[in-house]
Amino acid sequence: MAEELHLPDTVDKREKYKSLLPQIQALTSGEPDLIANLANIAAALREAMGFFWVGFYLVKDDELVLGPFQGPIACTRIQKGKGVCGTAWAQAKTIIVPDVDQFPGHIACSSASRSEIVVPFFKDGDVRMVLDVDSDQLAAFDEVDQAFLEKLEKLI
Ligand code: SME
Repeated sequence: MAEELHLPDTVDKREKYKSLLPQIQALTSGEPDLIANLANIAAALREAMGFFWVGFYLVKDDELVLGPFQGPIACTRIQKGKGVCGTAWAQAKTIIVPDVDQFPGHIACSSASRSEIVVPFFKDGDVRMVLDVDSDQLAAFDEVDQAFLEKLEKLI
């Protein structure tokens, strides 16, 4: 396929996600390498949705280790139960944080990050990685983001 995204001219994020998901599916289908696919997914999400930071943390030896991402440099390792990412891993569920300053233990990789969503991805019933998306705006994420970002799991 052409290595370029076709994005609708709209501010409606539901429409943006609807257009993006099949394109991500096309990008990843036929490519068995996990890191290559995560790298393209991070780039596609940032380009299409304008996120401040988007990336993956992979479960390795009982901690989260930074994987492919787009945005400013980030902390490389997160312990289970720590920060938003480690909490989403420990609780095995998506966490939406409207104001990171109100989340006890939030790990501030960048002081510009104001709100965040973390989505765990599973294999054989265990969390294998989390998708972390940060915004420089307060309350940027809601159930629309959750629904579409959780669908990405099937494409990986
Ligand atoms: N804020 C995250 C850490 C990762 S960075 O945002 C990229 C957390 O609290 O887990």
